[in-house]
Amino acid sequence: MWKGNKNLHDTLDHDYLKNKFLRIPGEGIDNTGRIKLAELVKGKGSILDVACGTCVNYELMKDLNYHGFDLTQQMLDVALELYPELEGKLYNGSIQGMGFIDNEFDVVIARHIFEHIPDWREAMTECLRVAKKYCYFIFYIHPTKEPEEIKYVENGTEGAYYLNRYNIDDVESVFKGYEFKKYTTADLIYEVRI
Ligand SMILES: C[S@@+](CC[C@H](N)C(=O)[O-])C[C@H]1O[C@@H](n2cnc3c(N)ncnc32)[C@H](O)[C@@H]1O
Repeated sequence: MWKGNKNLHDTLDHDYLKNKFLRIPGEGIDNTGRIKLAELVKGKGSILDVACGTCVNYELMKDLNYHGFDLTQQMLDVALELYPELEGKLYNGSIQGMGFIDNEFDVVIARHIFEHIPDWREAMTECLRVAKKYCYFIFYIHPTKEPEEIKYVENGTEGAYYLNRYNIDDVESVFKGYEFKKYTTADLIYEVRI
Protein backbone atom coordinates (compact mmCIF):
# COMPACT_ATOMS: atom_id res chain seq x y z
CA MET A 1 0.00 0.00 0.00
CA TRP A 2 2.61 2.51 0.99
CA LYS A 3 5.50 3.41 -1.30
CA GLY A 4 8.92 2.90 0.28
CA ASN A 5 9.20 1.54 3.78
CA LYS A 6 7.16 4.11 5.61
CA ASN A 7 3.67 3.24 6.79
CA LEU A 8 1.85 6.52 7.31
CA HIS A 9 -0.28 5.08 10.07
CA ASP A 10 2.82 4.08 12.06
CA THR A 11 3.74 7.74 12.32
CA LEU A 12 0.50 8.87 13.96
CA ASP A 13 0.45 10.07 17.55
CA HIS A 14 -0.89 7.58 20.13
CA ASP A 15 -3.42 9.99 21.72
CA TYR A 16 -4.62 11.09 18.30
CA LEU A 17 -5.14 7.46 17.29
CA LYS A 18 -6.95 6.69 20.52
CA ASN A 19 -9.29 9.66 20.65
CA LYS A 20 -9.62 11.21 17.21
CA PHE A 21 -8.61 8.94 14.33
CA LEU A 22 -11.88 8.28 12.44
CA ARG A 23 -13.81 9.16 15.61
CA ILE A 24 -14.51 12.84 14.98
CA PRO A 25 -18.15 13.84 14.27
CA GLY A 26 -19.31 12.45 10.94
CA GLU A 27 -16.47 9.90 10.80
CA GLY A 28 -17.13 7.93 13.97
CA ILE A 29 -20.06 5.91 15.28
CA ASP A 30 -22.47 8.56 14.00
CA ASN A 31 -21.38 7.90 10.40
CA THR A 32 -24.39 6.66 8.44
CA GLY A 33 -22.31 4.08 6.55
CA ARG A 34 -21.06 2.56 9.81
CA ILE A 35 -24.60 2.49 11.24
CA LYS A 36 -25.95 0.78 8.11
CA LEU A 37 -23.08 -1.71 8.23
CA ALA A 38 -23.81 -2.62 11.87
CA GLU A 39 -27.45 -3.29 10.93
CA LEU A 40 -26.43 -5.47 7.99
CA VAL A 41 -24.03 -7.75 9.90
CA LYS A 42 -26.33 -8.35 12.85
CA GLY A 43 -27.29 -12.01 13.37
CA LYS A 44 -25.09 -13.27 10.53
CA GLY A 45 -22.39 -14.96 12.65
CA SER A 46 -18.68 -14.30 13.16
CA ILE A 47 -17.24 -11.09 11.71
CA LEU A 48 -13.75 -10.22 10.47
CA ASP A 49 -13.20 -6.47 10.16
CA VAL A 50 -10.36 -6.15 7.63
CA ALA A 51 -8.22 -3.00 7.98
CA CYS A 52 -10.06 -2.41 11.24
CA GLY A 53 -7.80 0.45 12.37
CA THR A 54 -8.55 1.14 16.03
CA CYS A 55 -11.85 -0.80 15.76
CA VAL A 56 -14.30 2.10 15.59
CA ASN A 57 -16.77 -0.32 13.92
CA TYR A 58 -16.63 -2.54 17.01
CA GLU A 59 -18.30 0.22 19.04
CA LEU A 60 -21.48 -0.57 17.08
CA MET A 61 -20.98 -4.37 17.17
CA LYS A 62 -20.11 -5.04 20.79
CA ASP A 63 -22.64 -7.83 21.23
CA LEU A 64 -21.39 -9.66 18.11
CA ASN A 65 -18.54 -12.17 17.56
CA TYR A 66 -16.13 -9.53 16.23
CA HIS A 67 -12.50 -9.99 15.10
CA GLY A 68 -10.17 -7.32 13.70
CA PHE A 69 -7.27 -7.45 11.22
CA ASP A 70 -4.85 -4.65 10.34
CA LEU A 71 -1.43 -3.98 8.86
CA THR A 72 -0.47 -1.47 11.54
CA GLN A 73 0.39 -3.00 14.91
CA GLN A 74 0.07 0.40 16.59
CA MET A 75 -3.61 0.54 15.55
CA LEU A 76 -4.24 -2.88 17.08
CA ASP A 77 -2.40 -1.91 20.28
CA VAL A 78 -4.67 1.11 20.68
CA ALA A 79 -7.76 -1.01 19.91
CA LEU A 80 -6.76 -3.45 22.67
CA GLU A 81 -6.22 -0.59 25.09
CA LEU A 82 -9.74 0.66 24.34
CA TYR A 83 -11.37 -2.78 24.23
CA PRO A 84 -9.41 -5.32 26.33
CA GLU A 85 -12.12 -7.89 25.68
CA LEU A 86 -10.74 -8.19 22.10
CA GLU A 87 -7.61 -9.95 23.40
CA GLY A 88 -6.88 -12.90 21.06
CA LYS A 89 -9.28 -11.56 18.41
CA LEU A 90 -7.00 -9.01 16.73
CA TYR A 91 -4.60 -10.05 13.97
CA ASN A 92 -1.69 -8.25 12.33
CA GLY A 93 -0.88 -8.68 8.63
CA SER A 94 -1.60 -7.53 5.12
CA ILE A 95 -4.93 -7.82 3.34
CA GLN A 96 -3.26 -9.32 0.26
CA GLY A 97 -2.60 -12.61 2.09
CA MET A 98 -4.37 -12.90 5.40
CA GLY A 99 -3.36 -16.42 6.38
CA PHE A 100 -6.87 -17.53 7.34
CA ILE A 101 -8.36 -20.70 5.88
CA ASP A 102 -11.13 -20.48 3.24
CA ASN A 103 -14.53 -19.54 4.72
CA GLU A 104 -13.05 -18.92 8.19
CA PHE A 105 -15.47 -16.12 9.09
CA ASP A 106 -19.19 -15.91 8.34
CA VAL A 107 -18.90 -12.25 7.42
CA VAL A 108 -15.97 -10.12 6.24
CA ILE A 109 -16.23 -6.35 6.29
CA ALA A 110 -13.71 -3.92 4.80
CA ARG A 111 -14.30 -0.19 5.11
CA HIS A 112 -12.19 2.68 3.80
CA ILE A 113 -9.27 0.59 2.64
CA PHE A 114 -9.45 -0.28 -1.07
CA GLU A 115 -8.85 3.33 -2.15
CA HIS A 116 -5.45 3.07 -0.47
CA ILE A 117 -4.47 -0.13 -2.27
CA PRO A 118 -3.60 -0.12 -6.00
CA ASP A 119 -3.86 -3.95 -6.12
CA TRP A 120 -7.38 -3.73 -4.69
CA ARG A 121 -8.64 -6.63 -6.87
CA GLU A 122 -6.36 -9.14 -5.09
CA ALA A 123 -7.29 -7.62 -1.73
CA MET A 124 -11.02 -7.96 -2.46
CA THR A 125 -10.61 -11.51 -3.74
CA GLU A 126 -8.78 -12.42 -0.51
CA CYS A 127 -11.74 -11.08 1.52
CA LEU A 128 -14.14 -13.18 -0.59
CA ARG A 129 -12.00 -16.27 0.01
CA VAL A 130 -12.03 -15.88 3.79
CA ALA A 131 -15.78 -15.15 4.01
CA LYS A 132 -18.26 -18.00 4.30
CA LYS A 133 -21.53 -16.12 3.80
CA TYR A 134 -21.20 -12.40 3.18
CA CYS A 135 -18.73 -9.62 2.42
CA TYR A 136 -19.47 -5.94 2.91
CA PHE A 137 -17.16 -3.57 1.05
CA ILE A 138 -17.38 0.10 1.85
CA PHE A 139 -15.81 2.76 -0.30
CA TYR A 140 -14.94 6.07 1.20
CA ILE A 141 -14.13 7.40 -2.28
CA HIS A 142 -17.08 6.25 -4.36
CA PRO A 143 -16.29 4.40 -7.59
CA THR A 144 -17.70 6.23 -10.64
CA LYS A 145 -18.31 5.58 -14.34
CA GLU A 146 -15.08 7.50 -15.11
CA PRO A 147 -11.78 5.65 -15.76
CA GLU A 148 -9.95 4.86 -12.53
CA GLU A 149 -7.76 7.58 -11.07
CA ILE A 150 -4.61 6.53 -9.20
CA LYS A 151 -3.55 9.36 -6.94
CA TYR A 152 -0.47 9.35 -4.76
CA VAL A 153 -0.52 11.90 -1.96
CA GLU A 154 2.78 13.06 -0.46
CA ASN A 155 2.20 14.25 3.06
CA GLY A 156 5.48 15.91 4.05
CA THR A 157 7.20 14.25 7.00
CA GLU A 158 4.12 12.15 7.80
CA GLY A 159 4.61 9.79 4.88
CA ALA A 160 2.55 9.22 1.76
CA TYR A 161 -0.40 7.17 0.63
CA TYR A 162 -2.64 6.34 -2.29
CA LEU A 163 -6.09 7.90 -2.54
CA ASN A 164 -7.53 6.20 -5.62
CA ARG A 165 -10.92 6.33 -7.28
CA TYR A 166 -11.98 3.24 -9.24
CA ASN A 167 -14.30 2.54 -12.10
CA ILE A 168 -17.63 1.16 -10.90
CA ASP A 169 -17.82 -1.54 -13.61
CA ASP A 170 -14.29 -2.75 -12.73
CA VAL A 171 -15.28 -3.05 -9.07
CA GLU A 172 -18.53 -4.86 -9.78
CA SER A 173 -16.80 -7.25 -12.22
CA VAL A 174 -14.94 -8.78 -9.23
CA PHE A 175 -18.33 -9.92 -7.88
CA LYS A 176 -19.09 -12.05 -10.97
CA GLY A 177 -20.41 -15.43 -9.83
CA TYR A 178 -21.62 -14.03 -6.50
CA GLU A 179 -24.95 -12.46 -5.61
CA PHE A 180 -24.48 -8.79 -4.88
CA LYS A 181 -26.41 -5.73 -3.85
CA LYS A 182 -25.39 -2.11 -3.75
CA TYR A 183 -26.50 0.21 -0.95
CA THR A 184 -26.09 3.92 -1.06
CA THR A 185 -25.52 5.81 2.18
CA ALA A 186 -22.94 8.44 3.12
CA ASP A 187 -20.52 5.67 2.22
CA LEU A 188 -21.16 3.24 -0.61
CA ILE A 189 -21.71 -0.33 0.56
CA TYR A 190 -21.64 -3.48 -1.53
CA GLU A 191 -23.11 -6.65 -0.07
CA VAL A 192 -21.65 -9.76 -1.68
CA ARG A 193 -23.35 -13.02 -0.83
CA ILE A 194 -21.08 -16.01 -1.09
C1 LIG B 1 -8.49 4.73 6.69
S1 LIG B 1 -8.15 3.49 7.87
C2 LIG B 1 -9.73 2.69 8.02
C3 LIG B 1 -9.96 2.08 9.38
C4 LIG B 1 -11.31 1.36 9.59
N1 LIG B 1 -11.62 0.43 8.52
C5 LIG B 1 -12.44 2.34 9.75
O1 LIG B 1 -13.19 2.54 8.78
O2 LIG B 1 -12.56 2.90 10.83
C6 LIG B 1 -7.19 2.39 6.90
C7 LIG B 1 -6.63 1.23 7.71
O3 LIG B 1 -6.07 0.29 6.80
C8 LIG B 1 -4.91 -0.27 7.37
N2 LIG B 1 -4.14 -0.85 6.26
C9 LIG B 1 -3.42 -0.20 5.33
N3 LIG B 1 -2.88 -1.04 4.43
C10 LIG B 1 -3.29 -2.28 4.81
C11 LIG B 1 -3.06 -3.58 4.29
N4 LIG B 1 -2.28 -3.77 3.21
N5 LIG B 1 -3.60 -4.63 4.93
C12 LIG B 1 -4.36 -4.45 6.05
N6 LIG B 1 -4.62 -3.23 6.58
C13 LIG B 1 -4.09 -2.16 5.97
C14 LIG B 1 -4.25 0.89 8.07
O4 LIG B 1 -3.33 0.45 9.05
C15 LIG B 1 -5.48 1.59 8.65
O5 LIG B 1 -5.78 1.10 9.93
